[in-house]
Amino acid sequence: MSEPETDAEGTDEAVSSPTPGSNIAGASGPESGALIEEPIIQSEDVNVFYGDEQALQAIMMDIPEKQVTALIGPSGCGKSTFLRCINRMNDLITSARVEGDLRFAGKNVYDDDVDPVALRRKIGMVFQQPNPFPKSIYDNVAYGLRVQGQEVTDEIVENALRGAALWDEVKDQLGESGLELSGGQQQRLCIARAIAPDPEVVLMDEPASALDPVATSKVEDLISDLAEEYTVVIVTHNMQQAARISDKTGVFLTGGELVEFDDTQKIFENPEHQRVEDYITGKFG
Ligand SMILES: Nc1ncnc2c1ncn2[C@@H]1O[C@H](COP(=O)(O)OP(=O)(O)OP(=O)(O)O)[C@@H](O)[C@H]1O
Ligand SMILES: [Mg+2]
Repeated sequence: MSEPETDAEGTDEAVSSPTPGSNIAGASGPESGALIEEPIIQSEDVNVFYGDEQALQAIMMDIPEKQVTALIGPSGCGKSTFLRCINRMNDLITSARVEGDLRFAGKNVYDDDVDPVALRRKIGMVFQQPNPFPKSIYDNVAYGLRVQGQEVTDEIVENALRGAALWDEVKDQLGESGLELSGGQQQRLCIARAIAPDPEVVLMDEPASALDPVATSKVEDLISDLAEEYTVVIVTHNMQQAARISDKTGVFLTGGELVEFDDTQKIFENPEHQRVEDYITGKFG
């Protein structure tokens, strides 16, 4: 199991008590694309290397609060790498090195005084393959809280399951194994686990790509609902999905370059860059 949370054993020291929105300093927009007035996440000249190989090149991106931002692009262009920068999941890859500023609520998450475990409480993550633990449904949700040293109550577990649109399906079987659920239910359980500690941002790396169309559509509906309360950043290979559910879209292309970042409608209807248009219309990638 490659569940990165299992390494978590740090304290619950606050990440400089970020209060998003109101106190974000320097809320200037990126060079290109739409101006984001109050970005909750700001990437400024972020370069990432794996050993000597550069995976991301000077990424500039301002991610708006409580909206869905989709990251699209061909395989290997660095989407997952960028997502993992945001909550410092790349720390777990020994060869990975991040340069530049990646700010969450105005604070560089790579500052020495940031505790990555506390950061991941604020910025949760959901992966491509549903990865519930071999524990009860209840304990899967409670896990996210326990790792953070937070209190577990029935109410918090219920609310997280409700937030993940799963409560009605599992409320009578909370003691049963999470592994006995269907793939789509498992993924919503993982979403419940991610939102239980009440994060501010939920990162999702192709959360529906292992699901059938019905389960995918449930997860898509859920993502739109989540954005009322959380900032969602989602990597997807599915262009229709990005167009359906996101407010902003970033297009990464080969070489680890963020070629365009703008309102989703603009990206899909009238992109600035020919390379983006070619990618979107399926001419390559
Ligand atoms: N752990 C790692 N060690 C070394 N190189 C890596 C590692 N993870 C990713 N890379 C390299 O970094 C580049 C970007 O990879 P990344 O996984 O971020 O791309 P991606 O856009 O998410 O691709 P996909 O759509 O296939 O998931 C690729 O060249 C990849 O080989
Ligand atoms: Mg990826």
